[in-house]
Amino acid sequence: MTTSLMVFHDRLAQSKVNRTLMERAAREADDAVIVRDMYALYPDFAIDVDEEHRVCERCDRLAFLFPFYWYSAPALMKQWEDAVFTPGWAYGGGDALAGKTMLLAVTTGGARDMYTADGKHGATMDALLLPYRITARYLGLEYEDPFIVHGSSKTIDDDALAQVADDFVAWLRA
Ligand SMILES: Cc1cc2nc3c(=O)[nH]c(=O)nc-3n(C[C@H](O)[C@H](O)[C@H](O)COP(=O)(O)O)c2cc1C
Repeated sequence: MTTSLMVFHDRLAQSKVNRTLMERAAREADDAVIVRDMYALYPDFAIDVDEEHRVCERCDRLAFLFPFYWYSAPALMKQWEDAVFTPGWAYGGGDALAGKTMLLAVTTGGARDMYTADGKHGATMDALLLPYRITARYLGLEYEDPFIVHGSSKTIDDDALAQVADDFVAWLRA
């Protein structure tokens, strides 16, 4: 089973959590897990759609690692979806992604207890990630429970981050 791990972080040099997870995945990458730094590949947002289609067709699982930005993903990830999920290929006469799996790994600044109906953010992560689940459903992708790292920016110490990285690579290979 091959997994394409696409990392969407616009400031990886300043990143703590995404960079740690990406580097750890890259260290252990082999033919089964391919790690791609999407902002490095497409700094000008000019997605190579044919190449992305080839990458998607070759893998069984599309994994997205990104920091939560305004209850969503960094802009390049939206651009990637808009450019790559084309009619005739992914839907509307095409089913290139059907039977594959979508995996989301999301880091939030907010703590876990802020992401409840009564919490500071007033909604659960399941609710906020619904567009991805429904996109997966529309395209015939399986959608698995996301890997979420809460409180990424401030509260996570080095020991906790090392444990998160262990859990992340185990989740990626499960
Ligand atoms: C533009 C921007 C928007 C953000 N929006 C949110 C948000 O909606 N919810 C949240 O919990 N954290 C938000 N954050 C915090 C980031 O999610 C957090 O800093 C990131 O996950 C930490 O990962 P890193 O160390 O890899 O950068 C935002 C940060 C930025 C820069």
